[in-house]
Amino acid sequence: MKLLLIHGPNLNLLGTREPEKYGLEKFEEINKNLYAYCFKINVELEIFQSNTEGEIVTKIQQALGNFDGIVINPAAYTHTSIAIRDAISAVNIPTIEVHLSNIYSREDFRHHSFIAPVCIGQISGFKSNGYKLAIDAMINYLKNSNENIT
Ligand code: DQA
Repeated sequence: MKLLLIHGPNLNLLGTREPEKYGLEKFEEINKNLYAYCFKINVELEIFQSNTEGEIVTKIQQALGNFDGIVINPAAYTHTSIAIRDAISAVNIPTIEVHLSNIYSREDFRHHSFIAPVCIGQISGFKSNGYKLAIDAMINYLKNSNENIT
């Protein structure tokens, strides 16, 4: 099983960026723990971060045929990007949206996600643990859908 984790803009600053909202854990630390977790459970994980919408779109396009599932925190692009939404729709790879903060308890403009409707589901508000929750949910989802096919 191969999973792709995509981090959107400004998430590379985790650890120093608004820690009361996003936690104190550093970006590199979060990724290191996720790689270790996936290694332990025998899941292949690639992690990609970009501050650029087009690079995220290209990465999603390139995932076709290479990954079984995508976990994405689109960060601010959640609330603006039809291009990222269309890329997820186009490749049709099961995708889970993650937010460190609870976007529904914040400003109104964060309450709308262009991405959520093309995802299996969304995890919001559990800080960095949300990524692990999403990986577990994705594994479960993929195992169940394979069972249904065979
Ligand atoms: C975020 C929430 C977004 O509204 C914000 O723009 C981010 C981070 C989160 O993980 O809580 O950059 O996606």
